[in-house]
Amino acid sequence: MSAATPWTRRVRVLHRWISLAFMLAVIANLVALGMGSQASWVGVLALLPLLVLMGTGAVLFVLPYVATRRSARAPADPT
Ligand code: HEM
Repeated sequence: MSAATPWTRRVRVLHRWISLAFMLAVIANLVALGMGSQASWVGVLALLPLLVLMGTGAVLFVLPYVATRRSARAPADPT
């Protein structure tokens, strides 16, 4: 974590908070399902934060590999 730049840190915090919104939306979905609701917007309510989670999650997934490549390249830099 200490090597994280403010930009990558923000992506991680965004992912963390959107995950909370996603969990609430999933609960809302289950409640709507239990009440026999057919409203499709309740499903979209969970899909929107999930899309953001996919984007930020993909960035978080790639970050360690980018960092490894950068640090592996650094010693060979003659400047
Ligand atoms: C939809 C696709 C998702 C992808 C591709 C994804 C990917 C990731 C990755 C790569 C990390 C970083 C793991 C690490 O530190 O090495 C992460 C962290 C995390 N993910 Fe996801 N995730 C997804 C969805 C979710 C969902 C649905 C939740 C919960 C509702 C969630 C909650 C979290 C939390 C709480 C963290 C820890 C964040 C922190 O460091 O504070 N993610 N995720």
